[in-house]
This record gives sequence, C-alpha cells and structure tokens, in this order.
Amino acid sequence: MRVLGIETSCDETGVAVYDTERGLLADVLYSQVAIHAEYGGVVPELASRDHVRKTLPLVDQALLEADITRADIGGVAYTAGPGLAGALMVGATLGRAIAVGLGVPSLGVHHMEGHLLAPMLAENAPAYPLVALLVSGGHTQLVRVDGLGVYQLLGESLDDAAGEAFDKTAKMLGLPYPGGPQVAQLAEEGDPSRFDFPRPMVKQGGLDFSFSGLKTHTLTTVKACEADGGLSHQDKADIARAFEMAVVDTLVIKCRRALKQEQLTRLVMAGGVSANVRLRAALEQKLEGCEVFYPTAKLCTDNGAMIAFAGALRLAAGECDGPDAEVRPRWPMTELSAP
Ligand code: KG4
Ligand code: ZN
Repeated sequence: MRVLGIETSCDETGVAVYDTERGLLADVLYSQVAIHAEYGGVVPELASRDHVRKTLPLVDQALLEADITRADIGGVAYTAGPGLAGALMVGATLGRAIAVGLGVPSLGVHHMEGHLLAPMLAENAPAYPLVALLVSGGHTQLVRVDGLGVYQLLGESLDDAAGEAFDKTAKMLGLPYPGGPQVAQLAEEGDPSRFDFPRPMVKQGGLDFSFSGLKTHTLTTVKACEADGGLSHQDKADIARAFEMAVVDTLVIKCRRALKQEQLTRLVMAGGVSANVRLRAALEQKLEGCEVFYPTAKLCTDNGAMIAFAGALRLAAGECDGPDAEVRPRWPMTELSAP
C-alpha cells in the first residue's frame, strides 16, 4: 500500500510517500522559518495561509520524486493533532479531499506518534517494548511503548517543553527563531566550567520535568552579565553552554530512571530536540547497557515521512477516518489505542 502523508501542524509543510513494501519513496519539506523569523515565533494565521499555498505543489513534487501517479496512492494520512488548529485544518481538508477524489481511505495521525515512530524508518529499527523520550517544541514526555498505539505516559513536563525552553533561551540571548539549533551552535564556543545551572526536578523521585525554573535562572544570569559591563558574545556562548548542559543532564537522568523503573534497555528519542548532538552523545555514553535509537537529523524535526509511515501502519491495519473525523489541536497521546 502506498500512503501519501501530509504534515501541517505548525510551521513546516511536509509531504511524503511511504510504501508498505518498498519503504519511503519520497519526502519533501517546505519550511516557513523565513516568514515567522521577523516575528520571533510562529504566527498561526500566517502558518495556515502558507500551508494553503504550499501543500498541493508539494504533493505533486512528492509524487514526482516517488515516480508514481495519483492513481498509485492507496491511502492518505494527515496530521490531525496536536498542533495549531488552522494549520491542522489545511492538511486535514486537503488530505481528505484528495482521498475522496481518489476513492481511497484517509486517516488523521497523531503528530507525536509520528515523531515516536520516526526512528522505525531506519534499517535497524528498535523492537518493542521500549521507553520513548519525546522532546519537541510543544512536548517533553517519557512514554513506555509496548507496541503501536500501546502507550503509557511515565512522565512529562509540568510547564515548558524542552524545545520551548531552548527557543526562549535563544530569545534572551538575542538569537533568531527557531532557537534550538542556534543555542546549540553557540554553545560550542562556550566555556563549560563558567556557569553551573540547576538540573530541575532531578533530586525528587519521579519522571516529570520542569524547565521554567531553568528559564528564570538563564534570565537572571543574562541580566547579571548585562549589569556587569554588558552581555558579550562570550557571555552568551557560556550561558548557552550552561543551559544546554543542564537540559541534557536532566533528560539523561530521567531517561536512566525511566529505563530502570520499567526494567527496559531500549530507548528511542524523537522530536526536534533529538537533533541536538550533545543530547545524542550524552544518552549514548551515559546509559550503560542500553541501546539508544534516534531518527536521522532530517526526521527529528517535523516532516511528512513520519506521518506517511504512522498512517501507513494504521491504514494497513484497517483503520480509517469516520464521517465525523475532526482535527484535535489538543490530543493526549495516551488516548490512542492499538489498531
Ligand atoms: O518536533 P519539532 O520540529 O516541532 C514540534 O513538534 O514542536 O520541534 C521543534 C523544536 C523547537 O523548539 C526547536 O528549537 C527544537 O525543536 N530543536 C532543537 C534543535 N533542533 C531543533 N533544540 C535543541 N537542539 C537542536 N539541535
Ligand atoms: Zn513535531
């Protein structure tokens, strides 16, 4: 079965074709970063309007890349949530319209399930059961995964998501949106011994996270530097490094705890922040006796491939949209079930 996947939950338009026998045939992406950069963050209205412009041309491009025609599509998967309501509606409406036009089934996919399954697109896909660390701009979650749709939430952020904390830190340091990669790049020049930022919620037991205190600590440090002769480039790099180390340490500690609690040795990491090189290295080095899986850099951040893949698994199992299907801007992943 060949499934067309459409991702429009936020500021990337992603379209891909996944073939349940041959694998990923095409994966094309258009990023709206340039549109939102001047506002310092995503403007939902502009995001929706741009998805309207870009999605259909990207569908044509994906079909060309996959070397197939519309008639070869056996199902359409689109992101139904969580995400920006208007942006989701563009992908959902187009996806369902294409499916109706072709007389094939369509299915709304959960964006975070897409992220979670992205590492399975690799050749050495992990087997279940496993622990997943989902770290994106909107979510920081530890999930026990016993199979497709069999998810148990072990812990999550009580306030900011890890990606959000990266983005806010970038703003404080005067770096452009999207901030995560910028902070990570600047951190390379930072002195790891100058500042010691707190590792939030690691002393208490449990698997929840909190990044808002770390954000406040970052702001206080920025202000102290400003008051002490101005915030220099080196100050910014040192702060970026201290912040990144604190986030990475916190995530590693909680992952180790989750694996121990669940008596598992497989960790999957996914979502935009899983592109962070220092986080990948730390998890590989510090989780002794465990296997760590993560997607290729392109599949860490939002993309159509993960939606085509997750949709293909469920469509192939017989799931499809009912007549009353709707988008779910808020949608806990634990509400999903096995197909
Ligand atoms: O998964 P994603 O593309 O979109 C959401 O579903 O939210 O994640 C985007 C988030 C942003 O907060 C971005 O700053 C962060 O992932 N991010 C990173 C890196 N690359 C992207 N954070 C830290 N280091 C990176 N290299
Ligand atoms: Zn995402």
